[in-house]
Amino acid sequence: MRAVDLIRRKRDSGELTPEEIQQLIAAYTQGDIPDYQMSAWLMAIVLRGMSRPEIAALTEAMLHSGCVLDFSDLAGRKVDKHSTGGVGDKTSLVIAPIIAAGGLKVPMISGRGLGHSGGTLDKLESIPGFNVNLTLAEFRRVLETCGCALIGQTAEIAPADKKIYALRDVTGTVESPALICASIMSKKLAEGIDALVLDVKTGSGAFMKKIEDAENLAGLLVETGKRMGKKVVALITDMNQPLGRTAGNALEVAESIEVLAGGGPADLRELCLELAAWMFFLGERVKTVDEGRKLSADLIASGAARAKFREIVALQGGDVRVVDDPRRLARARQSLVINSAASGYIAAIQCEQLGVASVVLGGGREKKEDAIDPAVGLEFHKRIGDAVKRGDPLCTLHYNSDTRLAEARRLAETAYLIEPEKPKSLPPLIHRVIGV
Ligand code: URA
Repeated sequence: MRAVDLIRRKRDSGELTPEEIQQLIAAYTQGDIPDYQMSAWLMAIVLRGMSRPEIAALTEAMLHSGCVLDFSDLAGRKVDKHSTGGVGDKTSLVIAPIIAAGGLKVPMISGRGLGHSGGTLDKLESIPGFNVNLTLAEFRRVLETCGCALIGQTAEIAPADKKIYALRDVTGTVESPALICASIMSKKLAEGIDALVLDVKTGSGAFMKKIEDAENLAGLLVETGKRMGKKVVALITDMNQPLGRTAGNALEVAESIEVLAGGGPADLRELCLELAAWMFFLGERVKTVDEGRKLSADLIASGAARAKFREIVALQGGDVRVVDDPRRLARARQSLVINSAASGYIAAIQCEQLGVASVVLGGGREKKEDAIDPAVGLEFHKRIGDAVKRGDPLCTLHYNSDTRLAEARRLAETAYLIEPEKPKSLPPLIHRVIGV
């Protein structure tokens, strides 16, 4: 196999055999194919797409680039949820402790920020000391002890995805249903779970801007999971505006703690309850999704979910004091309020631009080796449909360096569309559920 031949075939819309895909992925994982060839192949996939057999082969090749975990000896069903990525999407931090507090096991392998979207691992690392790089033995121990462990891919778990994910982040090769499906499912199928709830985002801040594309991706993900014998549903959820009130690593941890403490913004809280409800349902902890919603709300109200989060943080080496006092998290030294230039109503938000603004301030990576500044990010003051007067604050940029402040400011200033009339309808939080 010559990598260049496979790149050219995909460039010309040809199809690769499962063996060719398997060899390419294995060679790249071992370091026998350079980043520039893999980038070219990934770009060809973004532009030309992949057939269903190719997607299945890619998912399997990435899954078997490492080991598949087996937690069948641990009591309780193992469930997880995964989001395709958005702006301000911090639901994992809330949901994982809720589910573990409810008696199921959550062996969660997450990703870092990708493109304009944030990543669970980067968020968790803004908790001083929190270690997402557990060995598999430690992962198992934490899971067994408290019912939940949150880690990144290790050298053992889907190492192909780890390398490819980092490359896609900085080569404009994220937005491909085939690549997203293989990336998500290779990690999730390696976790040894029984059931998976997928949160497939659609809208201006999602990788899938159009609902048809999100539905197509959801269908691929559900089909791939079911083929591998898992219970899977996908919720198509709205990402036409940021989820909750913040984007940025430490800011999002603080907001998640607010939800675990019974507060937090309504949209974030509602989505967390809905996703958790489906996890309880697929994990056979409850008989109906409604029952799952009630159980999730009760676990927050009783303080059990927050206590579980504290336990997870402690077991993974983090500073538990932040759970009781999120002001201990890193805070940016400076802030800049973006005010509305007009009066009227927020008709639309270019949500991806807000995610990029957070990356530009240092909250995400533009090159693989970039370090993240946990403290920076954005705080949102207005949502679609809200009335605004000229001069009202739309959002606040939290920053530590003004090197690229002007760029972030321009992105934030131009992200809000203000119209004289109130929009006739507001985007729903959840568009539909696929796979039931
Ligand atoms: N989340 C992932 O894990 N991979 C993707 O490609 C996109 C979102």
